[in-house]
Amino acid sequence: MNTTNPLAMYQQAAEYVLQQIDKSLDLFTDNYPGPSSENGVYPAIGNIEWTSSFWTGMLWLAYELTGDPKYRQAAEHQLASYKQRIEEQIQTDTHDLGFLYSLSAVAEFRITGNPLARATALQAAELLAGRYFSQAGIIQAWGDLSDPEQCGRMIIDCLLNLPLLYWATETGGDPRYAEYARTHVAQAARYLVRPDYSTYHTYYMDVETGAPRYGNTHQGYADDSCWARGQAWGIYGFLLSYKYTGDASLVELSKELARYFLARTPADGVVYWDLIFTGGTEQEKDSSASAVAACGLLELADQLPVSDPDKALFRSEALAILQALAAAYTTGDQPESNGVLKHGVYNKPRGMGIDECTIWGDYYYFEGLVRVLTKHRLYW
Ligand code: GLY
Repeated sequence: MNTTNPLAMYQQAAEYVLQQIDKSLDLFTDNYPGPSSENGVYPAIGNIEWTSSFWTGMLWLAYELTGDPKYRQAAEHQLASYKQRIEEQIQTDTHDLGFLYSLSAVAEFRITGNPLARATALQAAELLAGRYFSQAGIIQAWGDLSDPEQCGRMIIDCLLNLPLLYWATETGGDPRYAEYARTHVAQAARYLVRPDYSTYHTYYMDVETGAPRYGNTHQGYADDSCWARGQAWGIYGFLLSYKYTGDASLVELSKELARYFLARTPADGVVYWDLIFTGGTEQEKDSSASAVAACGLLELADQLPVSDPDKALFRSEALAILQALAAAYTTGDQPESNGVLKHGVYNKPRGMGIDECTIWGDYYYFEGLVRVLTKHRLYW
């Protein structure tokens, strides 16, 4: 790695991502990588997971970075599969419609203006809006809305799903979509964020009365610990709502969450899978959490005024994370791997994707690099 010329370092890192994309381009045109790798190799699956669009999003980033039409063609080819998925409602009982359609159909519409991409994303927004409970003011994360296990449960990851709703209203969709997103983000700020600016992964609301019930975890170490990726979703996600609403309190919240995250980042620059662990442990790192946080920190630095003393700090912390990931967390030493970032964790409590590549880790790492290398337009 070139450490004397930082720009060359980011260019080399991005070239490695492109190399890994090229390796899988044929395989992942009609198929998609699974959420996490198995021994470093993503399986090929249909468009059925919450994660399909991270691959499509990487294709769009690759197209925007290089101008090479092969990436655009592959990404455009996939629109039909997202259209079919929303029309036939294949695995759509999830708030992750935001992740799925922001990085595929919305990205395509923003880049190419394709009206079919816009229409497809609007269909997804309509389905997502249908998960909103007005009394509780939240979008239910998972499962059928009548499932008693999941009813009224919001999760911090949803902050990245809200941009689809804001975008839909802005582009001529139902004005209520943005209102739902605004109300949800206010509830998330109120109940998912603890007084010390750590976060619950999930929180239950009573959908009949609107009363708060309790917070717990799904992917973290304990109900009262702080799942690392959840904190990273918070840093980035509150800011994305700020961009659409102009509510400056969301920037302050993102700052505080970032401080909590950075204070628990070990010396090598990459967090453990839960922020309860900070060192001296055999616990796994979650490179994907740090990649998400790096994008959030870059956005934070962009949003802060030049007069804010933390502007430069947050940018340099973001760059330090990207450099740490590039230096020791890529699959460069695993020639058989089709992933980019190793040492990610999908779901430790359920034994899924532990110490593996994760497709969202790869996406956010690439988004971070593209942000540094170009004037990147956000897909969110
Ligand atoms: N949104 C699910 C996850 O971060 O694993």
